[in-house]
Amino acid sequence: MTSVVYSTATTLTGQLADEHHSLSWLFAVESEGPDHEAFLAGIGVLVSGSSTYEWVLREEDLLAHPEKWPSYYGARPMVVFTSRELPVPEGADVRFVRGPVADALPSIRALAGERDIWLIGGGDLVGQFDDAGALDRLELTYAPATLPAGMPLLPRRIGPDRLVLRDVQRFGQFAHLSYDVTR
Ligand SMILES: NC(=O)c1ccc[n+]([C@@H]2O[C@H](COP(=O)([O-])OP(=O)(O)OC[C@H]3O[C@@H](n4cnc5c(N)ncnc54)[C@H](OP(=O)(O)O)[C@@H]3O)[C@@H](O)[C@H]2O)c1
Repeated sequence: MTSVVYSTATTLTGQLADEHHSLSWLFAVESEGPDHEAFLAGIGVLVSGSSTYEWVLREEDLLAHPEKWPSYYGARPMVVFTSRELPVPEGADVRFVRGPVADALPSIRALAGERDIWLIGGGDLVGQFDDAGALDRLELTYAPATLPAGMPLLPRRIGPDRLVLRDVQRFGQFAHLSYDVTR
């Protein structure tokens, strides 16, 4: 059955990026994280908010170099939540949605087919999925860095009654925690 999985790297203090959307604290770590290709093989559709999508476009200059898109996320579709009109790299399967997660969920699940849904972030969008009762797993890769402020990992109150630790792994300087999220 399809699971909705939030997989991300984070600081020890629970930020996805600093307040300027920089990931320099992450790219400074020399270790390799978990096997991205193996994770991606189980994913049918990617979901992100607009800041994350715009970061990806900027980081790889994907509008000028659309041929880099498949090496980033593979040929699978990406659903971006936004209230704005945003550009799409030529040939990329990007679909824009807006409004309540519950309204978009049936079409996102249909795109995933038998495979899982990867919530890339940001944190509030993942919180909106949880609000809609549609967050099944957390795959969190902790980098050896703290920040005083930045973009939040998951700005919701989800307690130990709803989180079940399933696995702990070490990848060099990264610590990877897997949790099931119950309703
Ligand atoms: N460490 C990592 O591995 C990692 C992973 C993911 C993200 N990141 C970074 O973390 C940062 C996250 O940025 P962020 O916190 O701003 O989150 P975000 O989810 O990427 O973007 C938030 C924006 O998405 C749009 N949006 C969200 N929910 C919506 C809805 N229901 N309907 C319509 N639009 C909706 C809104 O913008 P508009 O309506 O104005 O478009 C909202 O301001 C980025 O810098 C990203 O690059 C890092």
